[in-house]
Amino acid sequence: MEAIRRATAQAHPNIAFIKYWGNRDDQLRLPANPSLSMNLGALRTITTVTFLEEEGPDALILNGSPVEGPARDRVEAFLHHVRGMAGFRGRAVVESNTDIPAGVGLASSAAAFAALAVAAAAALGMDLSERELSILARLGSGSACRSMPPGFVEWVAGDRHEDSYAYSIAPPEHWALWDVIAILSEQHKAVGSSEGHRRAATSPLHALRVATAPERVARCREAIWRRDFEALAEIVETDAIWMHAVMMTSRPPLFYWEPATITVLQAVRRWRDEGLPVAFTLDAGPNVHVLCPMEVADEVARRLQRVPGVRRVLASGPGGGACRIPRS
Ligand code: PMV
Repeated sequence: MEAIRRATAQAHPNIAFIKYWGNRDDQLRLPANPSLSMNLGALRTITTVTFLEEEGPDALILNGSPVEGPARDRVEAFLHHVRGMAGFRGRAVVESNTDIPAGVGLASSAAAFAALAVAAAAALGMDLSERELSILARLGSGSACRSMPPGFVEWVAGDRHEDSYAYSIAPPEHWALWDVIAILSEQHKAVGSSEGHRRAATSPLHALRVATAPERVARCREAIWRRDFEALAEIVETDAIWMHAVMMTSRPPLFYWEPATITVLQAVRRWRDEGLPVAFTLDAGPNVHVLCPMEVADEVARRLQRVPGVRRVLASGPGGGACRIPRS
């Protein structure tokens, strides 16, 4: 009898401190600039991949419901790549469970493709290093390469497929830094990040953002190593504003902010002026990620809950890397 080709893996999403926006190669998801992030240990995706002998369309089951359309197609395209590497042709059944709301700028695709890469490679008996898995996950979603290594992670942009990977600059225990996320909307965003990346170069600000990103990565890495919250706050906010400036000046422009986004940003700046160590960042969505030391995370969550327009608040400290786990 044939051995069952099945494996399960888990991965956390990550929040970028220095953003990835725009590719030098859309197909390979080779980024225009290096980036830096922290895995979010409180949120995770668990994925089981089962490869069958028969050929045919892959199936995707997300939180118990079959998924069709572009999300399934994207998983299938990714699995074609893994199958090509392993020399296997059979179809796959992918069962994924996550507590991350999809499409609202909470990096659900990062955790999804990191978990999928680990599970699919293991199911086909491939023994890949963390770096190779990071490179593989990048083909599914750029930021997924940063969910592979643990803790605080840097993505080396690279200029070839095999040089563009992420590695850990510090383990999760290095710094009890919290991300308190103000959810303003759980609506699926109208323009996804793949399309956003394609538009980036139409902004006159893009080239300058890309040219100055390596310096911001270096300053951010230093701030993390020194656990210097003030330095981190300054560089993280600057970088998030840069990315949204590029989005807003692209053709056609991309506005991810909602009125409540501004309300939260202003509140965060006011709290910092009053002495509370907080800093904001945003991904491709209206929700605001408020970074702070763990000691003040409850206080930050309480304050965010009172800001008009905030629907709910999630909080997470640093998380580990993607890994294989037993099927539950
Ligand atoms: O990996 P993607 O294609 O979902 O792009 C992620 C882009 C941002 O979340 C907006 C920034 C980042 O670096 O994570």
